[in-house]
Amino acid sequence: MSTYLKNLTILKLGGSVITDKSKQNHINMQTIQRIAEEVSTATSTVSLLLVHGGGSFGHPIAKKYQIHKGWYSPEQKIGFSETRRAMMTLNKTVIDIFLAEGIPVVSVQPSACTLTNSGRITHMDLEPTRSLLKFGFVPVLFGDAVMDISQGIAILSGDQIVTYLAKELAVKKVIFGTNVDGLLNSDNEVIPEINHQNFETLLKLAKESVASDVTGGMFGKLQEIEPLTKEGKEVIIVNAKKPGIIEEVLKGRKVVGTYFTGK
Ligand code: IPE
Repeated sequence: MSTYLKNLTILKLGGSVITDKSKQNHINMQTIQRIAEEVSTATSTVSLLLVHGGGSFGHPIAKKYQIHKGWYSPEQKIGFSETRRAMMTLNKTVIDIFLAEGIPVVSVQPSACTLTNSGRITHMDLEPTRSLLKFGFVPVLFGDAVMDISQGIAILSGDQIVTYLAKELAVKKVIFGTNVDGLLNSDNEVIPEINHQNFETLLKLAKESVASDVTGGMFGKLQEIEPLTKEGKEVIIVNAKKPGIIEEVLKGRKVVGTYFTGK
């Protein structure tokens, strides 16, 4: 196995980090800028794959046209195209900011290389992504509107892409950058460690996000994380809105967050 595969880290930047979920089409430019600076400082130590969410770009349009429910009306065609365009616009901004920081990011459009079946990935052409990683690029994927073999159309979450890539590319570490300090208990305190003993209970307790989220909020995230922990991957949920956290966690330092131990 090449070195790039051994040290590969996936960083997912949640839509709640890179956009303001309370305002439609609002990009948090300064936050993305700061994260790009932190990634730039840390990438000498890791090979990186970036995945970002849709936030107030992808979710409201996808919800309006019910893209996640599958094909049922020709009117959804425009909605599907608009969702795709919104994600391209958001992705371009992320690419522009990271590139200006000197990070060799390359956009990989999920809808052009992925098919789902009832919303789950059945095919994803990973060869271009593998090649990009081999040459030291930072591929950037994102939640997207995709074609689906049973329901026609679907919304593919960035979290599901993370799970798929982590499995297929033998990724060791997965960092979920969110707008909270980790998984919180009912007293709003961070749960520092999640293992096989407390996972099931937490999954039941996880409440769906109150914002317009067509991919299941924190509950959906936990469902994607479960198979990863079973495979022994290091999974961490951190607050990417707090300065310094992304840099520290990429450098392998202990930060405030929820660590999934897989034990
Ligand atoms: C959603 O991706 C993509 C679309 C709605 C098109 P995610 O589900 O990964 O987005 P966030 O991180 O929850 O905003």
